[in-house]
Amino acid sequence: MTNQKIIISPSILSADFADLKTDIKKVEPYVDWLHIDVMDGHFVPNISIGVPVVKSIRKATNLFLDTHLMIENPIRYIDAFAEAGSDLITFHYEATKEDTIKTIEKIKANNKKVGISIKPKTPAQDIKDFINMVDLVLIMTVEPGFGGQKFMEECIEKVSIIKEYSKNPNLIIQVDGGINDITSKICTKTGVNSLVAGSYIYKAENIKTAIEKLF
Ligand code: DX5
Ligand code: ZN
Repeated sequence: MTNQKIIISPSILSADFADLKTDIKKVEPYVDWLHIDVMDGHFVPNISIGVPVVKSIRKATNLFLDTHLMIENPIRYIDAFAEAGSDLITFHYEATKEDTIKTIEKIKANNKKVGISIKPKTPAQDIKDFINMVDLVLIMTVEPGFGGQKFMEECIEKVSIIKEYSKNPNLIIQVDGGINDITSKICTKTGVNSLVAGSYIYKAENIKTAIEKLF
């Protein structure tokens, strides 16, 4: 039986970019969210997709578009990703400088949900001041940049710290990186309520079963 309280967000980083619509349709019946990884080759050592692709995805699906920005100075691109059709914009705390609050405010001004993300080496304490300003905290469980990496279990201890700081019972705590049917349980039992999974879902022989096994 699926637990409706856990939001699964398949990452299209592991999809076929030449046949993206087909790959989106493969997950659509089983999930509400779609995770879109945006990489700039600076904040992370990889380049993926940008605004025009989000715009096309918006036309192809009604799924909630969970946009994960792995880019330097994300504030410059908030309006563009909002206009392209993102529903949630998650930026990396490490990619902001003095403008973390301004970045959050800019996402809110666009009437979009706000997420803040931290890399494995960034302590949860660093984002204490921002937790009650956002809808979602994304705890990376791999170094961002590539799909198919190994889950870093040590990152999960941040979940209880985030929960301690949060005054919001509806805060979404998301993990991303190395999530499969085994690591998902390690996360959800501590209070994680959103799982991003890329290679595990897109490499599965049966996507429906693979998604069901995440709960
Ligand atoms: C990595 C990305 C992830 C990636 C996860 O930087 O943020 O969303 O697609 O891939 P898997 O699930 O294969 O670890
Ligand atoms: Zn991601």
